[in-house]
Amino acid sequence: MSDASNINASDEGSLSAEQQLPRHVAIIMDGNGRWAKKRLLPRFAGHKSGVKSARMAIEVCVKLNIDALTLFAFSSENWKRPRKEVDLLMDLFVSSLREEAASLHKNNIRMRVIGDRQAFSEKLQKRIEEVETLTAENDGMTLTIAANYGGRWDILQAAQRAVAENRTIDEELFTRYLSLSDLPEPDLFIRTGGEHRISNFLLWQLAYTELYFTDTLWPDFDKARFVEAMRDYAGRQRRFGRTSEQVEKG
Ligand code: IPE
Ligand code: IPE
Ligand code: MG
Repeated sequence: MSDASNINASDEGSLSAEQQLPRHVAIIMDGNGRWAKKRLLPRFAGHKSGVKSARMAIEVCVKLNIDALTLFAFSSENWKRPRKEVDLLMDLFVSSLREEAASLHKNNIRMRVIGDRQAFSEKLQKRIEEVETLTAENDGMTLTIAANYGGRWDILQAAQRAVAENRTIDEELFTRYLSLSDLPEPDLFIRTGGEHRISNFLLWQLAYTELYFTDTLWPDFDKARFVEAMRDYAGRQRRFGRTSEQVEKG
């Protein structure tokens, strides 16, 4: 378990060194469109501003020595949005990868993308591969971007590959075919933007994850709010089916 001993109190607030930190944080970055609408801006301005919050979340996780951060950037259902918004989101994905690659690499971050990438343009697929290759050997934080990702897609692709390769499957073996199988399961799930749903994000992997929902719109989600979510997590007791007396005895 990582601890908070190396954080700068003036930045990351009052997380104390003894508090339990998540090893893996998974975030549904929601509320960009409403953030823009409130400002009478086009929805795209919200997505653009959301990139800054994503950068902040990465920086905070690196500082806190968190092993893994998984960000939901585009769901398999988001293709249903107006064509123009989808196109602009794809452009933003391409340009963000270009702009962030060097700094991800410098920070020893291993970045990869989960989801069905075959639906993306050649250019975007190539850019994803470039950043994945550039950062593949890094052994700091693992940053996963879920793009054209759906939890049902993930379970189905795992099931198809697992039955093709094995005569019998058990839970442990099946899990190996899912996305993120090489990481600890998410400890903390955050959804911004006020909705209380999973929206086909990690379905299998969130089975025992602590869930945190906030009304804050993603572009307004700053360091202080992120630390607040971590502090809330630190106060949870994870029982995994046992009683609190059993957990307290250790
Ligand atoms: C999340 O913000 C970003 C994506 C789904 C790509 P939204 O665009 O869903 O913002 P709201 O929910 O409309 O405010
Ligand atoms: C979930 O947000 C997907 C991402 C943040 C990428 P949506 O805004 O698409 O979710 P719904 O449609 O409100 O459930
Ligand atoms: Mg939304």
